[in-house]
Amino acid sequence: MALNSGSAPSTGPYYENHGYQPEHLYPAQPSPTAPHVYEVYPPPYYPPAVPQYAPRVPTQASAPVVHTQPKSPGTCTSKTKRILCLILVLGAVLVAILLSGFLLWKFLEKRCAVSGVECGNSGICISPSLWCDGVVHCPNGEDENRCVRLYGPNFILQVYSSQRKSWYPVCLDDWSESYARAACADMGYRNSFYSSQGIQDDSGATNFMKLNTSAGNIDLYKRLYLSDSCSSQSVVSLRCIECGVQSSGLQSRIVGGSAATLGQWPWQVSLHVQGVHVCGGSIITPQWIVTAAHCVEEPLNSPRYWTAFAGILRQSFMFYGDSYRVEKVISHPNYDSKTKNNDIALFKLQTPLTFNDRVKPVCLPNPGMVLDPDQQCWISGWGAIYEKGKTSDVLNAAWVPLIERSKCNHKFIYNNLITSAMICAGFLQGTVDSCQGDSGGPLVTLKNGIWWLIGDTSWGSGCAKAYRPGVYGNVTVFTDWIYQQMRILRPCQVGSWSPRPPPCAFVSRWQQSENLAVFPWARTEDTLSACSRQ
Ligand code: ARG
Repeated sequence: MALNSGSAPSTGPYYENHGYQPEHLYPAQPSPTAPHVYEVYPPPYYPPAVPQYAPRVPTQASAPVVHTQPKSPGTCTSKTKRILCLILVLGAVLVAILLSGFLLWKFLEKRCAVSGVECGNSGICISPSLWCDGVVHCPNGEDENRCVRLYGPNFILQVYSSQRKSWYPVCLDDWSESYARAACADMGYRNSFYSSQGIQDDSGATNFMKLNTSAGNIDLYKRLYLSDSCSSQSVVSLRCIECGVQSSGLQSRIVGGSAATLGQWPWQVSLHVQGVHVCGGSIITPQWIVTAAHCVEEPLNSPRYWTAFAGILRQSFMFYGDSYRVEKVISHPNYDSKTKNNDIALFKLQTPLTFNDRVKPVCLPNPGMVLDPDQQCWISGWGAIYEKGKTSDVLNAAWVPLIERSKCNHKFIYNNLITSAMICAGFLQGTVDSCQGDSGGPLVTLKNGIWWLIGDTSWGSGCAKAYRPGVYGNVTVFTDWIYQQMRILRPCQVGSWSPRPPPCAFVSRWQQSENLAVFPWARTEDTLSACSRQ
């Protein structure tokens, strides 16, 4: 974290920090793709040389000579030629009609305009009534992917209605904890449930999802129906994990950026490769850590290189703390190493973290959370305290305001390099910023008394320079992808002869919640999470 780095040495070549590259792992390299506001981006296009076309003008001497051919029964007569021509023209027209019909059909089929909703980008369409009906129809389970969500800073539980193509809050009438647990499992929080309570709905909803109490022993989602009344006049507010709570309050001495205290940023982890801090990360559940995709570019995309340390302030004390091996490294599929677009990745730990005063998760942002354009946020990490400096031994934190995207994309700032999957934060005059080694770490904000993960440290041009604020992955746009990864399970391997593990499988929420609601004693999730650790 660079603090007041106006006073830090900053002469020399212009420095772009687009990815922390530990010196012991890589030779020093210039960043060939680092965005530079004064650079033409993308590079100018020079059309290839084309051959010159030389028109041929017929001259007197070269005037064509007309030859007449004698008619013979063995060669084509002009009549047969005409018939042939006609057949050819008709054939060509027919082929053209067939081709355009086929292309039109393909286009409509792709857009699923005729047969319903498309499964991701697969071109496979399913009827809207099969969307969120409890049975996986799409090859990657997209139809059952996001049928339940928590909305806004009050965690209002909403269920998707495939008929109405809209989200509705769940009425508190007849609600019980077993439904709450089923909904959390469905979102991807296996075995995790914190609280569920009724709150006044202030969203102005006129339709609610209500529980049909007379329905037999069927699961939560099949009991729900759309209604315009809710006698309790309350909707369900559901929390699957106790997140976003600091153990020690903010202390004035760190304002403006300085050393953090234990428990202040309990979600902050240090991610090591060969005993060296490489990147930061944020705990979101006992087994999942959010970091930046550029931290895990090849060859560091293998989990065996990484160790996570949690609940510790000093790098020099890391080895006295608990270390966690990594089971899976998942980089965002649309991460672009050149532009740093979609710079987010997930670590799944081999063993779950034990939460205590020093180790706690941060909350993932819910859809429907409104942030001020210059919302006050905090960044933390063991990154360098000035540009080109070494990583810090102590954990530092500083507050930075968000900067509107339109402002950040100004030609004198980042000149349109900021996509909707990025967020800028910092001061236009420089002075406080994240820096090398902070990557992957959190950009958090306090709202409704809860800390939310708004960004993951991604890139910047230099550190703490004027008009070069820090750029962070926009976590809000990645939450669907994060929950989707948390829901994916590997099925149990049958027998030991299998050469490699079978492919990932989506376990539909129906499989999970049905078992819970109908056979609450079945504890399906325990079995599944044990299998997924293979
Ligand atoms: N890419 C850097 C890293 O890997 C983070 C840089 C952040 N830079 C900034 N000016 N905010 O650690």
